[in-house]
Amino acid sequence: MARFFKYKTPEALSEDARNRGLEIRIQNDFEPLTRPVQVGNRIVGNRLAIQPMEGCDGDLDGRAGPLTLRRYQRFGSGGAKLIWVEACAVVPEGRANPRQLMISPAHVESLRAILDTIRQAHREAFGRDDDLLVGLQLTHSGRYSYKKPILAQHHPLLDARTYLDKATGRLVRPSDPLISDEELDRLQLHYTTAALLAYRIGFDFVDLKQCHGYLLNELLGARGRPGKYGGTFFNRTRFIRDVVMRIRREKPDALIATRLNLSDGLPYRHGGPDDQGIPEDYQSPYLCAWGVDESNPLKMDFDEPLELIAQLRELGVGLVNVTLGNPYANPHWGRPFEFPPTDGYESPEHPLEGVARHLVAAATVQRAFPDLALVGTGYSWLQEFAFHVGAAQVAAGDVTFMGYGRGALAQPDFAARILAGKPLERKRICRTFSYCTGLMRSKNNQYGQFPSGCPPFDKEVYGPIWDQAEFNPDRNRRTERPATVAAP
Ligand SMILES: Cc1cc2nc3c(=O)[nH]c(=O)nc-3n(C[C@H](O)[C@H](O)[C@H](O)COP(=O)(O)O)c2cc1C
Repeated sequence: MARFFKYKTPEALSEDARNRGLEIRIQNDFEPLTRPVQVGNRIVGNRLAIQPMEGCDGDLDGRAGPLTLRRYQRFGSGGAKLIWVEACAVVPEGRANPRQLMISPAHVESLRAILDTIRQAHREAFGRDDDLLVGLQLTHSGRYSYKKPILAQHHPLLDARTYLDKATGRLVRPSDPLISDEELDRLQLHYTTAALLAYRIGFDFVDLKQCHGYLLNELLGARGRPGKYGGTFFNRTRFIRDVVMRIRREKPDALIATRLNLSDGLPYRHGGPDDQGIPEDYQSPYLCAWGVDESNPLKMDFDEPLELIAQLRELGVGLVNVTLGNPYANPHWGRPFEFPPTDGYESPEHPLEGVARHLVAAATVQRAFPDLALVGTGYSWLQEFAFHVGAAQVAAGDVTFMGYGRGALAQPDFAARILAGKPLERKRICRTFSYCTGLMRSKNNQYGQFPSGCPPFDKEVYGPIWDQAEFNPDRNRRTERPATVAAP
């Protein structure tokens, strides 16, 4: 059934990469992944991280639900020593869906329950948790806020896809207001208060999320925005610098992290042969994205992201998680996939290209800042050979942590197996068939949002949920995808 992933050995994968002009190194010895490493004033027990993965399974007030706690129980007992808790909205109008987690004094118990669940599960499985680092991602969904888009800038390509009002089909127009400078000033306070609250609850770090097209990411690319948060590099990066400084003033020893897009790329759309994505037409200079060459936004340009990381390090940011793209606009960049979610286009490139793009992005940052604690992204498509690649990258000093996303939903105990020298269980290896993203896009229940998880490999819980979901391919078939997935 696989279309792209046809490798029997890690060597075959690496050779195919080489034939495509890509460098994807592998090694069979996973020892580098077992090495402890210092992050801030903590020693973290190994190099395996679980990426932030929204479960869309909170209650309508933004509190953790039973499925949320179940996910974190599984992650906690899984063996990764860096657990990055999912996007949590700092204000209600910044939620991406009606079940996204929130942070405020009213959410302390919910967040504490998540943290306690992780730590307890980890202690029960491994006898200690002093070498486990757990952080919380703070977000504002900006253009992708579900109640109403909140725009950092007008975007020549994304506005035409952004509904101001879904019910009437009214799209964003150039005359619609942007979030004002005064509102951004106030939002700085919300981020600061939320961060301090997260530390009080006991999280080891907070992540100021600047990726995947959400508000703080859009701000970074907002060259056309007037006022003090737009235009120059200094203005576009003012918000993040100010928030880091505010947190630092209140809590000088705090570990501050950021998940940062190194490049936004260009939006794609349906329309290629066999429904492959094709890049949108754009006008040059392209002045609305971050980390791209303004004369050709398909080309990454890391100059500004590297400069921002240098400045944030000076201000005390101690942990950076690098990522790419926008899941709504160019999903093959962020999550290289075998099959798209059913509303998505087919991959316009071999997914190895997408994986290599992530590896290059992470290595560029790590080589520029060798002592920065850095998490790399985009390994799940590599299936059982992800860890051969992660180990080679850690060994080469091209990344500090290997961050595992979709694969951790399929096999949350991946780290325990790898550390014990066992291969992944073949029957539960993520095949990147995008069921998890399909569930995120499914809104047709009484909550206006389905929970996300792994229907094929966490079947007992997510199988029945998938059966009801809007983007179940049996209801809405565009691609020939297996309804259930068997390991090859
Ligand atoms: C269901 C789902 C939920 C996600 N939620 C988040 C999130 O809350 N925050 C975030 O930064 N990225 C989120 N991501 C992106 C992942 O963290 C990760 O970057 C992406 O899946 C690529 O890594 P992988 O190849 O290991 O899956 C999500 C991805 C999926 C599929």
